[in-house]
Amino acid sequence: MRCTFAWPALLVFSILNCGEAESDPANNSPEVTLVSPNGGEFAPTQTVSWRARDKDKDDVLSIELELLILDENDEVQSSEVIATDLENTLEIESTTYDWQRDDVALVNGAGDPIRYAIRITATDLAGNTASDESDEAFTLLDAGALDNLDWDDVQPIFVRYCKRCHSEPAASPGIEYFRLDKYNAKDPAPPTNDEQGVFEMRESVARQLLQLGSMPPFGNNQPSDLDKMRIQNWLDDGAPFSAE
Ligand code: HEC
Repeated sequence: MRCTFAWPALLVFSILNCGEAESDPANNSPEVTLVSPNGGEFAPTQTVSWRARDKDKDDVLSIELELLILDENDEVQSSEVIATDLENTLEIESTTYDWQRDDVALVNGAGDPIRYAIRITATDLAGNTASDESDEAFTLLDAGALDNLDWDDVQPIFVRYCKRCHSEPAASPGIEYFRLDKYNAKDPAPPTNDEQGVFEMRESVARQLLQLGSMPPFGNNQPSDLDKMRIQNWLDDGAPFSAE
């Protein structure tokens, strides 16, 4: 806080106020929530994101991110600071960090995926801290894991999130002309019929699922960001049945 002096009436008040502001600018502890990663798999292009706030409106938070290695019982085995002194003013409530994880191991000596978590710690100007961790362990995806996807890679996502309403029979007569549990009109997935599949519907699927976010309808189970990235990449490649 800046010290300003108004002469003469407010002088004494200003000095007191200024002194107090400098020695103790923040009485309330920050609040911080790690939004992502929170379990599952983490892609190279995903970012660490969080929400942080503080009731003291002029406060500025300093953010530290640590990478934790967990054992199979979710006990922390080791930790390493991956970012420190990230400034988080309170105007930006939702913040992300582009974690470059090129030299972080994906698997352990036995070849099993390493279970990671992120811990975030926010410290305010007065030194009050708050922290949060990933709700569940996550594993890291290989740099190329989202490239060259084919129908086998994305079909489970359509089956899980769309089949309920977009299969045979469809949820309503107006959408009976296509199915999202099969590849195209020639795909003989039972019950066999010549309805269009995801391939013919790909532009509409991109619009509803990726651009508008209107499918699946609000209130239904939603695919993760990672699943949406998979579908996005597959569509960008021309929605191939089998990739090279
Ligand atoms: C709870 C049922 C339900 C689920 C789950 C659902 N949809 Fe839909 N979808 C509908 C209904 C009903 C319509 C037609 C009315 C409308 O547009 O709201 C529709 C319309 C669509 C359309 C537009 C069709 C056209 O004629 O252009 C697309 C594309 C679509 N859905 C894709 C998806 C995808 C992709 C998923 C899964 C990721 C999904 N939907 C999940 C019920 C559902």
